[in-house]
Amino acid sequence: MSMLITGISELVTCDDTVEDRRGGADAALAEGLGVLTDAAVVIGGGGEDTAPVVEWVGPAADAPQADWAIDLGGKAVVPGFVDSHAHLVFAGDRSAEFAARMTGQAYDGGGIALTMEATRAASDGELRALLQHRVSEMRAQGTTTVEIKSGYGLDVEHEVRALRLAREVTPETTFLGAHVVPPGMRGEAGPGSPGREAYLDLVCGEMLTACAPYARWVDVFCEPASPHAFDEQESRRVLEAGRAAGLELRVHGNQLGHGPGVRLAVELGAASVDHCTYLSEDDVEALAGSDTVATLLPGVEFSTRQPYPDARGLLEAGVSLALATDCNPGTCYSSSMPLMIALAVREMGMTPAQALRAATVGGARALRRPDLGRVRVGGPADLAVVDATSWLHIPYRVGTPVVRALEV
Ligand code: NIG
Ligand code: FE
Repeated sequence: MSMLITGISELVTCDDTVEDRRGGADAALAEGLGVLTDAAVVIGGGGEDTAPVVEWVGPAADAPQADWAIDLGGKAVVPGFVDSHAHLVFAGDRSAEFAARMTGQAYDGGGIALTMEATRAASDGELRALLQHRVSEMRAQGTTTVEIKSGYGLDVEHEVRALRLAREVTPETTFLGAHVVPPGMRGEAGPGSPGREAYLDLVCGEMLTACAPYARWVDVFCEPASPHAFDEQESRRVLEAGRAAGLELRVHGNQLGHGPGVRLAVELGAASVDHCTYLSEDDVEALAGSDTVATLLPGVEFSTRQPYPDARGLLEAGVSLALATDCNPGTCYSSSMPLMIALAVREMGMTPAQALRAATVGGARALRRPDLGRVRVGGPADLAVVDATSWLHIPYRVGTPVVRALEV
């Protein structure tokens, strides 16, 4: 079965090989987005076990016949957003922590233990329902790919469960046993009681072995500024153990202060280092000369009252950027990629086109998935429809539900 989609006022392909034939201001605004006007797309191939793919892209006037057709009536279409950083498997509520931060309390990762308790206490069915609800919330805002981390189980049984559930909704699953050292393993019971060393042994041993079959990635909260997270040496140990178990690397780094996260990620060839709120000149130089993407999470700066990183400066320095939500109960409980795009434009100096690219092809690069984030023949039919004739309405109509994933 094939489907012809017409009535596309602007098709943002994010495909470098598509030439924007418009001149002047329109073309300048859309720099690098490969925009086709009055376009059509043919989608085909979707079956029980196969995802639909893009079969044809071009001017509506040249469109081939298909088994059935829909006319969008003059709306913009963009590649579905690739949200390359989210923590969606959790239960419980930490809204009071958000309120406290808005009146000046600093974030230090301590609240993760509360979410751990609530998550462990939830049944599989409850967690699955929460997860599915969050994923549909994302689709309703244009996201078609999401990466999902464990990290609220923090023991073997519950980390495996989180990844098993995450695998039901995405292949981009990340083992984050090294989120924080859980209560009970902080040496609280005095000399000889299990401490962080024992927890790291568990993470790099039995937990990793049990989780690896359900994970593509390994991640670590590398943040010497937090008493709960991990320093450089501990983070290196986790990442190297993950790699030896066949996982690819990503890092939470430089979120709460200057630190070793970025340099470690670059040195070990991680696909992405995420947060990058506090960067030194050396960090920027290291990123610019590397294949590691800097994934910026402006919703976290918003929800923790931290300074926004200078995205424009990073782009000028040659750093490859992605934007993601980091949707989680502590530092940013937002599933909205359109909001991240708007914040990146308003607060981090990105042009709308740069922000849209970072939310699509940037996320794809951060996940090492060159098939995602673009609209092109042979690629997955991951499209999002904007309820306006111009894609610019995504940041322009901030807070308004103007973009949603196309259900095919
Ligand atoms: O990416 N920084 C570490 N982890 C999450 C927050 C987790 C939480 O507070 O629940 C983050 O910001
Ligand atoms: Fe995170």
